Order: sequence, then structure tokens, then C-alpha cells
Amino acid sequence: MVAVESLSELRQHVQNARQAGLTIGCVPTMGALHAGHISLVEAAKKETDFVVVTIFVNPTQFGPNEDFSKYPRPLELDLQMCREAGVDVVFHPEVPTVYPAGATTSVEVGGLSSVLEGAFRPGHFRGVATVVLKLFNMVQPDVAFFGQKDFQQQLVIKHMVRDLDVPVRVQTCPTKREADGLAMSSRNVYLSPEERQTSVLLSQALKLAETMVHQGGATPGGIEAAMKKHLETDPRVSIDYAKLVDAHTLADLNRIQSEMVALIAARVGTTRLIDNMLISGHLS
Ligand code: PAF
Repeated sequence: MVAVESLSELRQHVQNARQAGLTIGCVPTMGALHAGHISLVEAAKKETDFVVVTIFVNPTQFGPNEDFSKYPRPLELDLQMCREAGVDVVFHPEVPTVYPAGATTSVEVGGLSSVLEGAFRPGHFRGVATVVLKLFNMVQPDVAFFGQKDFQQQLVIKHMVRDLDVPVRVQTCPTKREADGLAMSSRNVYLSPEERQTSVLLSQALKLAETMVHQGGATPGGIEAAMKKHLETDPRVSIDYAKLVDAHTLADLNRIQSEMVALIAARVGTTRLIDNMLISGHLS
């Protein structure tokens, strides 16, 4: 495995792989890698011949009061995990490599970017779409791998790829969970032991939504209210949203339909967590 910081080195390695007839897979990350990221690397290794992991804590997707400066950056550990997982190249650029002085261009995916996460984190998806398009242009992968954990993110990226004819296939991989159901996230390290216990309420609330859909009779509004009630059983939780929406458009629902997603964003103490579950209901 090689770890490179410059675009020219990255391009040289990718070009060599291409000339050898290999297909390129890319796993974009912000580092602080965990088993969820490694499952993306495994999917990339299965489906492509040459795997590039990018590690870049992207400043443009953090709001002014968010955790950009304290976001964990354990680079040596990350490189070790990538080496053990059989990654070919880790690209870990500095900020000026990705955003040269004077850069003023950004990518805005209309509609999808302004609801749910977008409503609570204005500008977040502009930062995500911009950096992901840049990383795609830098790596030029055949396939890029993202986790379902960031459900709205993977939807926004798929729309960007479609709308701008980006020649990359975007593959979404299942969320990796701890034994008690908590979705793996680089931000879980912020949780105190008590908060860590509380945080299981998110996946429990999603399961509750799934059970209510499958039992039948409940409305989307009733299911959202039940998720909120479950989350509020612990005063450490403060809810941004707990929604059951269309899995493709993220639009609100009047009735249960076939392809839905339940999405939760909540603060546990000061740590903001998100999680989601795809739920298929019967047409009604
Ligand atoms: O999901 C992430 O880690 C980031 O949002 C991504 C896709 C690497 C863009 O910075």
C-alpha cells in the first residue's frame, strides 16, 4: 500500500493501474476509520481491482458551530487499518490541495439538499457534493462506495452523478452496527459511557417504526410520533427529526407506501447522531 498527499502522485498510481487494465474503486472517507469503512473497502475489493481510499476532513461540509477542528484525525491508525484491509492507495491531501486559494466553484444538488440534514445543517450538502465531485475527478474511479448510514448523502451523490453525467457508478453498502444496534460512526467516540448506553434508543426507534409498518394500521404520522416518544424516554436525547419518508425523494408521506425510509437525527448529550432504516410497506 502507498499513502500519498499530492494529486500528481495519486494520478501516477491510478494511471499505472489503468494501464495494467485494472478497474478502480474509490472509498471516500474523512478518516477515523472503523469497521463500517472497512466493510466499504471489502465491497470495493470484491468489485474492483485497485482500491483507493481518500482521507480528507472536508472543511466545507461543516457549519461554523460544528466539530471540524475537533473531528478525530488518527492518521497512523487509519493507514494501518487500510494496509491490513488490502487497500492499494490512500490519498490524504492537505486542504490547499483540494481547495486551492481562490477556489469559488461549488456544486448544489437542488431539492434533496435542503430537507432533513440539509435543513439542520445549511450548506452541508453543497460541501459534500463539491468535495465528492472533486475527489471523483481526482481519482477517476469506475465505482465509488458509500455507506447507507449517511442515507441522504448517498442519495444526493447519486443525483449529482446522474444530473452531471459523472462517469462513476455509486454503490451504497449496508450500515455496520455495534452488537446493541448502534450504527458505527466516527463521532461515537465523543459519547460518554452513559450516553453510549442511551444512544441505542435511535436504532430501537427505527426498529419500532419497522414493526409498526409491518403490523399494519399505523399512519406515517403515528409512526413518527411513536419514534419520538421512544427517543424521549431518556432526557439526554434531544431530537432534530424522526421521520418516515419516501425512500427516493425524501418527501413526506400521507400513507404507508412500498419504499420508505425512517430517518432520525438526534443529539445525545452534545453528540449529534444520525441513523436510518429502509422499510418496505404494502401499497395502500
Ligand atoms: O461520509 C463522509 O465521510 C464524507 O461526507 C465524505 C463522503 C467523505 C465527503 O467528505
